[in-house]
Amino acid sequence: MPASLPFKMRLPVIAAPMFLISGPELVIAACKAGIGGAFPTPNCRTAAELDAWMGQITDALAPSDGPWAANLITHSTNKGLADDLALIAQYRPPVVITALGSPKPVMETVKAYGGLVFADVTSLGLARKAADAGVDGMACISAGAGGHTGHLSPFAFISAVRQFFDGYIAVGGGIADGAGVAGAVAAGADFVYMGTRFLAASESRAQDAYKDMVVSSGPDDLIVSNAITGTNASWLKPSLIAAGLDPDALTAPTARDYNSGSAQKRWKDLWAAGQGLQTIDRVMPTSQIVARLEAEYRDAAGRFTALTARA
Ligand SMILES: Cc1cc2nc3c(=O)[nH]c(=O)nc-3n(C[C@H](O)[C@H](O)[C@H](O)COP(=O)(O)O)c2cc1C
Repeated sequence: MPASLPFKMRLPVIAAPMFLISGPELVIAACKAGIGGAFPTPNCRTAAELDAWMGQITDALAPSDGPWAANLITHSTNKGLADDLALIAQYRPPVVITALGSPKPVMETVKAYGGLVFADVTSLGLARKAADAGVDGMACISAGAGGHTGHLSPFAFISAVRQFFDGYIAVGGGIADGAGVAGAVAAGADFVYMGTRFLAASESRAQDAYKDMVVSSGPDDLIVSNAITGTNASWLKPSLIAAGLDPDALTAPTARDYNSGSAQKRWKDLWAAGQGLQTIDRVMPTSQIVARLEAEYRDAAGRFTALTARA
């Protein structure tokens, strides 16, 4: 596994890309706090908007800040991929994360300027394909993740991927405190890919009612279903009920749909979250979330050192 990180970071955490939630404010706040910040390009409805966001991010960040990343959907339904790639070549995000499709379409563009390609993977089959495509890293999305979720335990996932991949591993899924970050690093991950923890950040674009629901809900308030987008995703049950759906009687749709206007509308009214919910007790700025994560991480590392010294 890699002996060191490719970036100087205060904490090996990436604020993971979230549809309709992550904008330049959250990305900049995360990078300024010393972690990575990412957003999915479908959050911009036009290439001009994406151009403006990438300009805003690159203008705001200094070399000493954490790395920023753009997350591209490489599924065939993403008709904006060519526009995305032109802007990637122009603004050169240090990391490009591919999701819901093969990383191959982005490799040449990102490698040409020395950027890193990470593939978001939810199974070992996808992880093997990503390794074969020559990615620099993977975001291994495990059970407990918010949004489109995986099914493997993060520990099992890291361990299995490490048998055939020696690049960077970012692991996500229900990890929302610094002790979890320490556990993932001890298990062989290089980064933690953390979405849910930042849903109720002050800089998140979630509506206030969504943030309130995140603060007041716990893991038992979640349901994993493929009925909303065609792919298993973890949703807040109270948001389904508020939208008139019965969480116990969801039916699967016929087609996968990630990008259409109706897909966007669904994510606006139906709110996704992962099992890290229990760590969120109020809305707070990203800088404070990262400070808390760092304190928890140092505590856990100290406990680990003390326990291993005694062993
Ligand atoms: C509301 C929400 C929206 C998300 N949207 C996306 C997305 O557009 N693209 C993507 O690759 N992952 C998306 N994710 C998944 C995150 O990038 C990340 O994998 C996940 O949040 C990690 O698990 P955690 O939520 O338990 O921290 C989303 C997650 C949430 C909670």
